[in-house]
Amino acid sequence: MAEDKYRLPRGMHPIMPEDEIYWRALETAARNRSEAMGFTRITTPVVDNRALFMRSIGTATDIVQKEMFMVGRLKDAENEETADDKEKEDLVLRPEITAQVARTYIQQGMQTLPQPVRLFYLREPVFRYERPQAGRYRQFFQYGAEILGSDDPMADVLLITLLWQIFQDVYLTEKMILEINSIGCATCRPQIKKKIVEYYKSVEEFVCPDCQKRMQANPLRLFDCKEERCQAIINEAPQIIDNLCDTCQSNFRQILEVLDDLNIPYNLNPKLVRGLDYYTRTVFELRDEDDEQRQNVLAGGGRYDGLIKELGGAFTPAVGFSIGYERVIEKLKQRSIKLPSVPGPEILIIQLGNKAQRQSLILLTELNQLNYRTACIPGKESLRGQLRMADKYKIPIVLIMGQREAYDDTVIVRDMKEGVQETIDRKRLPEILAKFLKKE
Ligand code: HAM
Repeated sequence: MAEDKYRLPRGMHPIMPEDEIYWRALETAARNRSEAMGFTRITTPVVDNRALFMRSIGTATDIVQKEMFMVGRLKDAENEETADDKEKEDLVLRPEITAQVARTYIQQGMQTLPQPVRLFYLREPVFRYERPQAGRYRQFFQYGAEILGSDDPMADVLLITLLWQIFQDVYLTEKMILEINSIGCATCRPQIKKKIVEYYKSVEEFVCPDCQKRMQANPLRLFDCKEERCQAIINEAPQIIDNLCDTCQSNFRQILEVLDDLNIPYNLNPKLVRGLDYYTRTVFELRDEDDEQRQNVLAGGGRYDGLIKELGGAFTPAVGFSIGYERVIEKLKQRSIKLPSVPGPEILIIQLGNKAQRQSLILLTELNQLNYRTACIPGKESLRGQLRMADKYKIPIVLIMGQREAYDDTVIVRDMKEGVQETIDRKRLPEILAKFLKKE
């Protein structure tokens, strides 16, 4: 047991080798599907400016108020203050990636590229100081896709299709449902908020203290309250969807119609508002039909037409979503989904003795260059032990090189399945291996 003071911080987790099969399956599906649709990969820094997230996610949200990890240099007596420290950059570990993508779009001049710009990010760590529980971590990983520079509702559908295809590739669409809503735009949102606040004022004495605060700071989030006493009030509240402007309504209708055509199962959830303030119009979340709780949402996204302007760029409508790796992987395990195994080595070189050890490294390089997945295990001396290893990892071919083989340029080729072996001249190795390990 590691000493307590070295323990893993709460909400953090290592990704263990035995789980790689799941991580890889999701990652492969996400990468292949995104690239096939013409999205290109972007990677943004893990540490970023706190103000970026305050402005984009919103100062009244849980993420900004309670969940950001601050970052700074440790100071002690010997560590004098430097010019950098004096600048007092206010840095945090990123709690999400969309704001970074929007900022990058502006800063890297991506508005001059052919529009819309389609980007994705893969297995990127994200940090939120939440209360850890099943499915909720303080460091978790996201894949995401963003389309910047299009207000066409078909961009929303395209992203939902991409999300659905990724889930199809990992055999997870059964019993999955897309919760979807429209939360209005700059034109209709002020009116909608006004109506909701008016209604809440009339019932103010019955709502929970948090909702009393939300009435001022963030009226749409009133729909997100989980307090028992607020549920009946939410049910009676004016619905966002009934108060959308004509364009928002027509866009939303088109989206739902195409989802019908595509047979993507959805549930129009008029209370879905999401936890980040940058959203406009469409918002959506993907979850298992049987899991009601928030920490079971596997993916979420929506439109953020105002964000790029908010961050100092020209008005650029955009839409995107992110998938949470950990939750998808939990689901894959829960449903016992069988996935293709991660290909390990097909050849193991066993070396016995000094000269053989050096030559076996040369052989390893040669075979890797011929695209044979080849391993050797440094520091392992015993033949039996190494053969056992080949057996355990189901490596079909073992090449044995002892002192004798090292001197006379031969090698023993052992077929693990048949348990037979022969000594051959090393020059014949490519020909022999080609026979054993036919490449498709
Ligand atoms: P989000 O809903 O905050 O959206 O997070 C997206 C996904 O990340 C969630 O659906 C969930 O699977 C996963 N997730 C969130 N918090 C945790 C946690 N504490 N532990 C484990 N998994 C978690 C966003 O982050 C937006 N940037 C999505 C987006 C992209 N909107 C537009 N473009």
